[in-house]
Amino acid sequence: MRRRHYHHDYFTTVVLLLAGISTLVIFGRQEMAMAEEPPSRVIELPGPASEGSVPLERTLAQRRSVRSYRQVPMTLEEVGQLLWAAQGISSDRGYRTAPSAGATYPLEMYISVGDVDDLAPGIYRYRPREHDLVALIDGDRRDALTRASLGQGAIQKAPAVFIVTAIYARTTGRYGDRGIRYVHMEAGHAAQNLCLQAVARGLGAVVIGAFHDREIRAVLGLGKEETPLYVIPVGK
Ligand SMILES: Cc1cc2nc3c(=O)[nH]c(=O)nc-3n(C[C@H](O)[C@H](O)[C@H](O)COP(=O)(O)O)c2cc1C
Repeated sequence: MRRRHYHHDYFTTVVLLLAGISTLVIFGRQEMAMAEEPPSRVIELPGPASEGSVPLERTLAQRRSVRSYRQVPMTLEEVGQLLWAAQGISSDRGYRTAPSAGATYPLEMYISVGDVDDLAPGIYRYRPREHDLVALIDGDRRDALTRASLGQGAIQKAPAVFIVTAIYARTTGRYGDRGIRYVHMEAGHAAQNLCLQAVARGLGAVVIGAFHDREIRAVLGLGKEETPLYVIPVGK
């Protein structure tokens, strides 16, 4: 009996050790993959402006949903400014332009580029800390986004389409089910920041909530843990 018990313990120890090592390797790789993008896939954004000439009151008074745009390209500076307004870093301690429950930061920002100076058509993910873009998928994906959004023409015609997604677990991990409402509140904060910044830059935007999650996920190449919340076409 005693001997068998000894064998069992030895076996368990080896299995646990192997499991531990493989977990370390897998997580180590993931960390590396997240931290170090190949340089060719990273596009630096111009530093965001923290002052502007349009009063906040005017942006509030003028904000309206805009669903058609002039066919002129947006600039990389405008794209960077809008992403910063939505989720950019605004403090040395890593806090952002939009509030976040417990600073859990469940939101991710993507952009589907159609016609932006110095930015090839494709899908990009915004990295707030680096204030840059990581290229994820090459090619204009606005048609696919439009189909996924019940054929809404604003998406097709916009030079750039911003997408707000959420990883709920970041917030529900701390707040349980109540975290779900917090995440939705945060998406509203981020989207409104983006819309007001658009007005201040002479741009128009509309927040779109009517789309098929599964199809948007497929277009952006998102995992199951990440949920698209808002699609926001922007243009002049
Ligand atoms: C949660 C939410 C979802 C929305 N979804 C859509 C949408 O799918 N398509 C669209 O054209 N507008 C959408 N809108 C924009 C509203 O239609 C618009 O805000 C409303 O008509 C008021 O007009 P205004 O934004 O110009 O003040 C949405 C707005 C919100 C807040």
